[in-house]
Amino acid sequence: MHDLGAPDAKGAKDGLHELDGFENGLIARFEEHPVLAGITRLPEEDFTALLLQRRFVSLAFTPSYDLAIDLLRDEEGLRIARIILREEYPGATGHAPSHREDMTEDLRLLGVSREALVASRPTAATRRAITDTLELIADAGGHADSDLRLLTFLRFWGEVLVSVEYARLWERMGPLFTGGGGGRNRSRFYHPHLVHDAKTHSLATVSLLSDTHSDRLAARVTELLGRAEGVDGASGAAGFRETEERALRLKTAFYDQFG
Ligand SMILES: [Fe+2]
Repeated sequence: MHDLGAPDAKGAKDGLHELDGFENGLIARFEEHPVLAGITRLPEEDFTALLLQRRFVSLAFTPSYDLAIDLLRDEEGLRIARIILREEYPGATGHAPSHREDMTEDLRLLGVSREALVASRPTAATRRAITDTLELIADAGGHADSDLRLLTFLRFWGEVLVSVEYARLWERMGPLFTGGGGGRNRSRFYHPHLVHDAKTHSLATVSLLSDTHSDRLAARVTELLGRAEGVDGASGAAGFRETEERALRLKTAFYDQFG
């Protein structure tokens, strides 16, 4: 049966190239969301409101990861997800600020006052974005290919698209963080995340040596995809596509409120 090895491997690679193109299409659509594409033209108070609403989604990041971890059964996937979750709380002693504290510090540097922070409440659309995220994760956990769907969701919703969002926001906030003192970048949250969450490799060429959160998860997602293909044709790809489309819809619905 050794002669079947090469064509199968080629088929799997072709499948990954196809999924990669599909994913890049979704990324491009998100980048062109009118609010994100027009971020530099948004009135100042709308930009502040956007950042304050986006903060609530960030606050829901860790419970979302926890829920997915609850439902994951794949040991390797669990290992990757646990490490990423713990990186949100750096240091073993509890003395270092969490990534969410870094976010609030970035907001302060951007001129958001404590009063504005205190007065801010999630809008209906923001609340929906959060509850729909938990719903989508729970739903993923109920499918036969739950591990593939859960890891696909964590990667695309929690890493790839986050990096796309912050890259857009950076077009506006970048000068505020890098201006002044010797060109030093003072952002502790938005800029580091736009770098370490980014997709830097095609799904077809991702390796375990890639170190962004997106690429670490991609290494396991592509393994699970290969396994699903072996069992029953295109089912793995279908779950992947459906999950990414739903994740994108969640994200765009959140930004629609600022249009
Ligand atoms: Fe991340």
